[in-house]
Amino acid sequence: MKGSILRLRATKLSLILITLVCTMFLLWGWDKAPFLVSLIPQSQSLRLSPDTFIGSPMNAVSPEPKKDADNLPNSATNEASDKPEGYDKKSNGEDGENFKEKVWDASVPVDSANTSSVFTKKEKGNIPYQVKKQTCDYAKGNWVADDNRPFYSGGRCLQWLSEMWACRLTDRTDFAFEKFRWQPRDCEMEEFSGKKFLRRMRNKTLAFIGDSLGRQQYQSLMCMVSGGKLRHDVIDVGWEYGLVKARGALRPDGWAHRFTRTNTTILFYWSACLCDLQPVNPSDKNSEVAMNLDRPPAFLRRYLDRFNVIVLNTGHHWNRGKFDGNHWVMHVGGVPNLNKNVAEAKNFTIHSIVKWVDSQLPQHPKLRAVYRSLSPRHFFNGDWNSGGTCDNTNPLSKGKEVLKEESGDPAAAMAVKGTKVKYLDITALSELRDEGHMSRYTIKPRQATGQDCLHWCLPGIPDAWNEILYGQLSALGRF
Ligand SMILES: *[C@@H]1O[C@H](CO)[C@@H](O)[C@H](O)[C@H]1NC(C)=O
Ligand SMILES: *[C@@H]1O[C@H](CO)[C@@H](O)[C@H](O)[C@H]1NC(C)=O
Ligand SMILES: *[C@@H]1O[C@H](CO)[C@@H](O)[C@H](O)[C@H]1NC(C)=O
Ligand SMILES: *[C@@H]1O[C@H](CO)[C@@H](O)[C@H](O)[C@H]1NC(C)=O
Repeated sequence: MKGSILRLRATKLSLILITLVCTMFLLWGWDKAPFLVSLIPQSQSLRLSPDTFIGSPMNAVSPEPKKDADNLPNSATNEASDKPEGYDKKSNGEDGENFKEKVWDASVPVDSANTSSVFTKKEKGNIPYQVKKQTCDYAKGNWVADDNRPFYSGGRCLQWLSEMWACRLTDRTDFAFEKFRWQPRDCEMEEFSGKKFLRRMRNKTLAFIGDSLGRQQYQSLMCMVSGGKLRHDVIDVGWEYGLVKARGALRPDGWAHRFTRTNTTILFYWSACLCDLQPVNPSDKNSEVAMNLDRPPAFLRRYLDRFNVIVLNTGHHWNRGKFDGNHWVMHVGGVPNLNKNVAEAKNFTIHSIVKWVDSQLPQHPKLRAVYRSLSPRHFFNGDWNSGGTCDNTNPLSKGKEVLKEESGDPAAAMAVKGTKVKYLDITALSELRDEGHMSRYTIKPRQATGQDCLHWCLPGIPDAWNEILYGQLSALGRF
């Protein structure tokens, strides 16, 4: 008797649940693409090659760059549509998005990103098209001219963008490099949205840990998420992570900012080697520094519990000049180890950190770990200290397409294999963008100190890395 009543209740309950879920799905689908979702059967999702996208600017000639730093379609003139997070609870978009996120949060296994779900994306001229979501090799694809780039104004995002990387503030006059988007070959990436990013990252923290190229990616993301506008609701929370400038230091070891409306924290921690640096003799400020190749940075160990996404990189400090300049002495197992050459040490360290992070993931089910591949340098006719230059201003003059597997950071590619650490493979696609570096441009006239063919102008190439990061995290399910 009791049993049958319970069973009846259970049946009733599941019916209600099923109805609820169906209704929510319909509403969500309707919000995303009125008519289309309900009319096209799931199994029949169209897969278009990028070349067949209607209105795609694939073959379009890059438009004449505007010289006025403020004349940017996306970030400056389009105030209304670019309002930072109008968290209008009543809007359908919010509800739809929330539902999708709930689905995402329902423990999607990290490696089963394959779904047959159909989603739509608005391309130029608001023509919706159908795309099949699938596991994607984001590293293969091509650069496409896109008038909706950049995401922010290099002349305005000065709250987070270092002046030294804001090419719009320098004597540079060509900005054609700002107007390209990376198009993966085999799949459609979800279009970056700062609002969606913040909603999905509600109560969450994303940490970039790496060298100055990681710092560029951090600044880029801050500008992308905020639209490059001055934001009084973003607060400095560096102190929560010990990121305060020490007495006599040039700068803090990193920066952390919180978007208070969504309680989303984005931070950068400076760890050029992704290893643990400890002065051999702490009381001597000229002490040699033990570079513990087999130990993760203390900062990462200490704060890992607080992070939801970490993005790691290293690469450009693995040379004798940097070692000597920083008084770095390699240690393994806590004792000096001078047997490794620099390349071996780098490979060893990348493998060590990836292995360690991978070993931490089971205890940190909410954590997503990403390793970003090497950012390429473009010194021609010399190196950074011997008159090397990157003077080309003509975008994509050597081609716009990447087809090869694994794009040129073999140590990193091998290290992540077989782990749950995701690979953000940007080397080859960035290799095609030699015109996007700081080059010879500076704010103040500078003596002949050589060109910077390592760092990128912002807005610029690191924005594309963040788009891919966003696409990868979205495809993963939850982030
Ligand atoms: C994911 O998709 C790829 C290609 O579409 C397929 O080869 C692979 O077997 C799929 N994996 C799963 C887990 O469905
Ligand atoms: C964010 O955290 C607050 C305080 O802990 C909590 O009340 C709220 O429900 C959380 N929101 C989400 C979306 O997790
Ligand atoms: C912000 O998010 C953190 C988790 O990342 C949570 O512990 C904290 O309570 C949240 N704060 C607010 C004000 O919601
Ligand atoms: C890099 O390190 C891994 C793991 O120690 C090793 O298997 C691999 O052969 C190394 N690669 C190179 C190029 O030294």
